[in-house]
Amino acid sequence: MDAIRIRCGPPLCGRVRISGAKNAALPILCATLLSDGPSRLRNVPALRDIETTAALLRFLGRTVTVETPEVNVAAGSDVRPEAPYELVKQMRASVLVLGPLVARFGRAKVSLPGGCAIGTRPIDQHLKGLEAMGCTIQLDRGYVLAEGPAGGGRLRGAEVCFDLPTVTGTENLMMAASLAKGRTTLVNCAREPEVEELARVLNKMGAEVNGAGTDVIHVVGAERGELAPFDHAIIPDRIEAGTYMVAAAATGGDVLLESARLEDLEALVSKLRQAGAEIAAEGENVRVRRTAPLRPVNATTAPHPGFPTDMQAQFMVLMCLAQGESVISETIFENRFMHVPELHRMGARIALRGHTAIVHGVPRLRGASVMATDLRASASLVIAGLVAEGETEVRRVYHLDRGYERIEAKLGALGANIERVKGADA
Ligand code: EPU
Repeated sequence: MDAIRIRCGPPLCGRVRISGAKNAALPILCATLLSDGPSRLRNVPALRDIETTAALLRFLGRTVTVETPEVNVAAGSDVRPEAPYELVKQMRASVLVLGPLVARFGRAKVSLPGGCAIGTRPIDQHLKGLEAMGCTIQLDRGYVLAEGPAGGGRLRGAEVCFDLPTVTGTENLMMAASLAKGRTTLVNCAREPEVEELARVLNKMGAEVNGAGTDVIHVVGAERGELAPFDHAIIPDRIEAGTYMVAAAATGGDVLLESARLEDLEALVSKLRQAGAEIAAEGENVRVRRTAPLRPVNATTAPHPGFPTDMQAQFMVLMCLAQGESVISETIFENRFMHVPELHRMGARIALRGHTAIVHGVPRLRGASVMATDLRASASLVIAGLVAEGETEVRRVYHLDRGYERIEAKLGALGANIERVKGADA
């Protein structure tokens, strides 16, 4: 496996283009199952998760061409409504085919995703919602077997109240409801921008989805058994943008993020400003710079519009360099502090108390060989490497490649001393 080697360099300076949002592209690719016509997605990032989703759609019988930033999907000759373990285990978001498959074809067999590095991540809320819509659900040897009413019939609109806001759960049920008979009301929904983006696409496809972006979503199912194909350009990735914002602030740099949306990142931006960064919209772009010393700031992750769990690890690196003590709490996933022992190896002072990290700023971090087993933790280690004295090697780049398009090229263009070392990871 490849590694990324970073040597302490100058403050990041220049322009970086933010790619399309991974977590919007994945459900939208799955939404193509609701239609047989050829659909076209634009501004799709070149990431391993996109390749995995394309492989899954092909397995299901679709014809998919990935020429990022464009992906085209059309119906193949046959449909096999089955998502095997081999593909689902590579990417939990594969569960997003469950809703579309059962709504469109009356049945689906989808592997349970199993545990994951950041937490147990059950899908009980997805299943509960489908059951309310008339689905029969059985769990058999690691698979979810879902069948529409009366042996594979059309789903029925229903009222579903989620026990907690779930992003992919909300998306799965929105897609299922768009082909169900009658009206569905989803309550306590996730309000993430990616949910809104999926709703925009479903509406382009002829569905009637209202309220996405709030906690109550209404869907009126289409009368026909399928939706229309679509052509859509995906919104910029707010987590990639947030990661470059933190990197710019950590290095005391001055970076223009091209094609980034401040309105999707308000909680993070407010914390970064409190920490001493200057952040301003400049047309379609966002400028981030820091000249003042870093101040400590507390943060607690929460569903959108709260502070994103996907930015917690990166923000913690910033706080490792602040003058004083900050408290960072993780409330979404039970095991999302995997970066902490690695940061310790780089000289950080962080005490863990359950779901809370107490971070004591240090004057500097020191380079080391580090690795992480999830995407955002890996990104945090890259940022730590940018500011650490000497050389840092981030191993298992595999995780980074799932979610950051050409990270070493983008950081290199901003002046970072960074390279990919092929096959370096033992
Ligand atoms: N949960 C349940 N039951 C369910 C579903 C979720 O208990 O049926 C719990 C989860 O265990 C977690 C909480 O609800 O404690 C929220 O999880 P959610 O379902 O919202 O997460 P997700 O949909 O699996 C998406 C993103 C993640 C991001 C989370 C939280 C995609 C493809 N993934 O996951 O992104 O961290 O929302 O914002 O959209 C990443 O990109 O690195 C990533 C992990």
